[in-house]
Formats: sequence, structure tokens, C-alpha cells
Amino acid sequence: MCGIVGYIGARDATEVVVSGLQRLEYRGYDSAGIAILNHDDFQVRRSVGKLSNLQQRLQEQPTHGQQGIGHTRWATHGGVTEANAHPHRSDSGEIVVIQNGIFENYLDQKRRLIEQGVAFHSQTDTEVIAHLIERETKAAGDFLAGFRRAMQQLQGGNAVVAMHRRQPGLILAARLDNAGGVVVGLGDGENFVASDIPAILDYTQQVLFLEDGELAIITADGVQVERLTGEPVAKAPQRISWDPVAAAKGGYKHFMQKEIFEQTRSITDTLHDRVDLENAQVMLDDLTLTDQQLRDIDKIYIVACGTAWHAALVAKFLIESLARVRVEVDYGSEFRYRDPILDRGTLMIAITQSGETVDTLVPMELARKAGVPCISLVNAIGSQAARLSDGGVIYLNAGPEIAVASTKVFTCMLIAAALLALKLGALHGRLDRNAMREHLQALLALPNKLGTLLQETAIYEKLAERYRHTSDMLFLGRGINYPIALEGALKLKEISYIHAEGYPAGEMKHGPIALIDEQMPVVCIAVKDGVYDKMLSNVEQVKTRGGEVIAIATEGDTTLRDAADFVIEVPQTLPLFAPVLTVVPLQLLSYYCALRRGADVDQPRNLAKSVTVE
Ligand code: AGP
Repeated sequence: MCGIVGYIGARDATEVVVSGLQRLEYRGYDSAGIAILNHDDFQVRRSVGKLSNLQQRLQEQPTHGQQGIGHTRWATHGGVTEANAHPHRSDSGEIVVIQNGIFENYLDQKRRLIEQGVAFHSQTDTEVIAHLIERETKAAGDFLAGFRRAMQQLQGGNAVVAMHRRQPGLILAARLDNAGGVVVGLGDGENFVASDIPAILDYTQQVLFLEDGELAIITADGVQVERLTGEPVAKAPQRISWDPVAAAKGGYKHFMQKEIFEQTRSITDTLHDRVDLENAQVMLDDLTLTDQQLRDIDKIYIVACGTAWHAALVAKFLIESLARVRVEVDYGSEFRYRDPILDRGTLMIAITQSGETVDTLVPMELARKAGVPCISLVNAIGSQAARLSDGGVIYLNAGPEIAVASTKVFTCMLIAAALLALKLGALHGRLDRNAMREHLQALLALPNKLGTLLQETAIYEKLAERYRHTSDMLFLGRGINYPIALEGALKLKEISYIHAEGYPAGEMKHGPIALIDEQMPVVCIAVKDGVYDKMLSNVEQVKTRGGEVIAIATEGDTTLRDAADFVIEVPQTLPLFAPVLTVVPLQLLSYYCALRRGADVDQPRNLAKSVTVE
């Protein structure tokens, strides 16, 4: 999760920017950089590793000036190198840029710029933005006009901040789509810009938030906000009255709430630099298995625990459907006891947030001993799972997940699994370019779709009030949404202590339907897919036995509005990717139920964030 800080005013910009980046360290990163405008030239300092390395660099090569921008980067494509760290400079060096988000069409733009003779010095999409702004500034003869025109050519969710050395006293910032948050801090004779409020709270509590398609023209004396098309936008400043702990929670009541609401950005970061729409390709640069080795795989074991095990069940659907490679999913804690067959052509995949779950690490050791290659979908950089993965890793890039109940990391696991499944599908000759492009476009559209889901929470507070005394709840799903029923049940029970069970809806008639009465609310995941009609009949079965149904439906589904007692609608997407969306209402339901019951949401009783014992 990258961090952005900018400052313009009378203070020492280096101090303001670095202290702001320190406030964002909790977001996780692996390189950092700063650009300070000193008279009419930029002083740029960048370093890999922790912020302290950049501070050491600044001790050795100080920067001076009252205007600057800084960035902490979490590398995905292009690796952790100083050359890839932000800020990036345009060809002439006259423009510096920092960015958060996905620039989906950057490869296409990069090719055009190379054809025009632009020399590149990094593998990032951000550098393309710097050259693009320069090209458009030269064409328009004006930095603001050039910036605006460049932003209009970016596809994907982005936050971009730039400075021009011949335009001292001016910082430009833009927010595109749902993903890249941009907050502008208002001071007296000074102004700030950041990706997150904690970065600037030491200096101001007056802020403006940019919406999708808006840009901010920031000088020491004032801030103007406009649409990318040039129309001015009137914005009333908001006052942020957070204490430091609240600031770490980004103003949310709990880390779990914050992590649910930052999923738009976290899945954006999982996708970042890994999708080449132009060539219909997936780039998983941290995998060390060759394409041929991946082609030779004809059997996959996925091992995981808890929420990660639910992600593994979804991954099975994705890989078998898109790549037609057989997948078996095992609880990490069970795998070793069934004397598994670990032979040639087998790949082991571990899915784990912490990378330290012993129940997941043990199977990885077994695979290594048997000479079976192992990769991991893991959030914690450099964790044991990452080190045991002799086939490489797919880092989830969700940023630190503090709440014990996993939410944002789960949806990042689903995105990473989809990327891997698509890559395997292409390598195994199961997906042509058109099919790849269709799936990649659907993936890239998910952050925005997920963002719309987070805009409405009243229904969850209403349901939490209604079920605050309930002792049981049933979650039903079919096909790829059956694991989501399991995940919804786990979320509810682990933070609200309501007993909950997830079941394949088809199993209802084989026993669980005996449980149905007025006291048993039933959540049915019934989105428009191949099993929708069967889910509809499950809803009716529950209703005829007096049960109450909360349906997770595809937006606009009037049939379910009539059939169920409560309906929560999710945007349409490809059925294989629906779990990324259908899980969000279940996360919110469990959060508000726990809140209403006064449970310790972030630290539920008896639970640990990482279970490092058997
Ligand atoms: C998730 O809500 C739980 N806290 C727990 O099930 C967790 O998913 C499980 O312990 C696995 O942890 P890992 O992903 O770090 O391996």
C-alpha cells in the first residue's frame, strides 16, 4: 500500500514530507523517496528498504526547500530497486511525479513514448506518467493544461501528484476512479496533499477530499479544485478531530472496519503492474517457476487454514475452470495426516496472510522434501512461507492487516488466485487472447464495483439490530459462492460469537433444513449465475418453513426482492469473480453484528492474528 505526501509553504519541506511518510509507515512499503524544489531545480533522494535508509541518505545529502513531494512504494512489478522507487522524473528532468494505483494502459503509452525517443530508467508505470505529462505540457505550452491532458489519458484507479521545476510554488494532484485516495490539507500560508489523513494531521485538521476525476491546484496561498475537464468544483473544508490512535485507524472505529473499507485500494494494489491488457497477459514477476515448468503442472494441492482455506476453495474453482488443471484443497492441519501423493507434475500452493501459520508451513516442508515445487500467495513480505516457496511468491500487497478477523487480505487472496488461474489458463492453452482480455477487463473493473458496495451501510446496522439476540445463523451458497457462505459464517462467529454455519445450499434437504424456524435467519448468496434458479428454490424452501432470508443478489434482481425478507445487491461481474463482491456484505454484516453486541471487534476472545503453534 503506497503512501503519498506533499507540502508547499514556509516550513522546511523535507521535514514535513518525511514526517508525513513516517505516519504512513503502518501501511507497509519497501522503498521511499522525496523530491524537493530548491530554487529552480529538484533535489531527488530515493532508497530501498525502510524510511530510516532514506533519512540516512538525507543526512549524507541534505535537501533544502519549501516545496516537495514524497512517496513510500510497495513494489510489485519491477522489483524493489532504487530506480523503481518514486518520485520519477520526466525525460528532461523538469517534472517529478509520485503515484498510487493502477495505470492500466501504461504499456501502450510506454511504447508510443519509446517510439518518440523517450529513454526509460525504470520498469514502473509511474515513470510513464512523468513522460506523458511532459509531452502534453510541451504540446500545450502549459504545465496545468499538460497535466490535465495527461490525466485524461490514464485508465484505471490512480492518485497522481506532480511538480514542474519551472513552476515553483505549484503542486498538482489528481484522483482518478475509486482507488487512489487524495486528501488536501489546508493551512495558513501553507498547504498539504497526502494519500491518507494521518500524514498531515500534525499540521492541520482542515482537509478537502478529491473525488474521482478531480484535480487540485495547490499553492502556499490556496487550493483550487477542478474537474479534469476544467470546471471548478466548490468544496467545503472538513475538520478532522482524530487522536493519534484514531488516526492509525484512519478515523474508523476499528481496524476491521478500516480494513473492510480499504478493500477498493487493497485489491487495486494486488492487481497493480500485473495486468497487461494490451497484450492480454498476466505478469507475476515474483514467481520463479518458468512458463514451461508451469505448463508441466498437472496436479495442484492448495493448503491453507481458516479464511485462507476458504480462499483456497475459490482458487480451486478458478484454476479448474480457467486452466483445467486438477486441484485438491486441504486444511493445512490435515494435509500431513492423509499420506498425500507428492509426485512429478504436482505443484503445491500455500495461501496465507501471515506466512507464519505452522499448519500451513508443515505441508510446505513436506512438498520440499518430496521435490514438489511450492509457491505461496502471501501478504507478509519475507515471511517463512515466502522463504519456503522455492517456486516463488505472489505477494498480496494488501498492506498490514491489524484486525484478527481477516477481510481485505481475503479479497486480495481471491484476486491473486484469479491472476494465477488466468496465467495457468493461458500457458495451458485454455484461454485465447480474447478470453484473457475479457477476464482481465472484468478483474480491473472490480475495485470500482467493490467501492460502490461500501457506500451503503444502513442495511447492516438494521440487520445487526434485528439479530442482536439471535444465537444461530445459517449461510448458504452454491458453486463458487459456497466457500463464501463458509467465510461469512466464520466472520460472524469469530467476532460476534453468534453460532453460524456455512453450508452448500444443495445439502439443505439432507439435514440442515430441520434447523429452519423463525429463530434461524438464513443468508443466501443468490447472484445471477449458473445455479441462480436452484438458489431461488432454496430461498423458497426456507421461507415456507418460517425462516427469514437475507439474500445477496445481483443488482436489479426484482425476483429476489419479492422472495426474500432482506436483499443486499452486489454489482454484476463474471460469475468466477463474484466472490470478491459477495463476501463484502457478509464482512459488513459480521462487523455490525459484533459492534451491536459490544464484542471486541479487533481482538476477539481466544483468537490470535497468526497461529504459530500446531
Ligand atoms: C481469519 O479471519 C482468521 N483470523 C483465521 O482463520 C486465519 O485466516 C487463519 O488463521 C490463517 O491465517 P494465515 O492466513 O495467516 O495463514
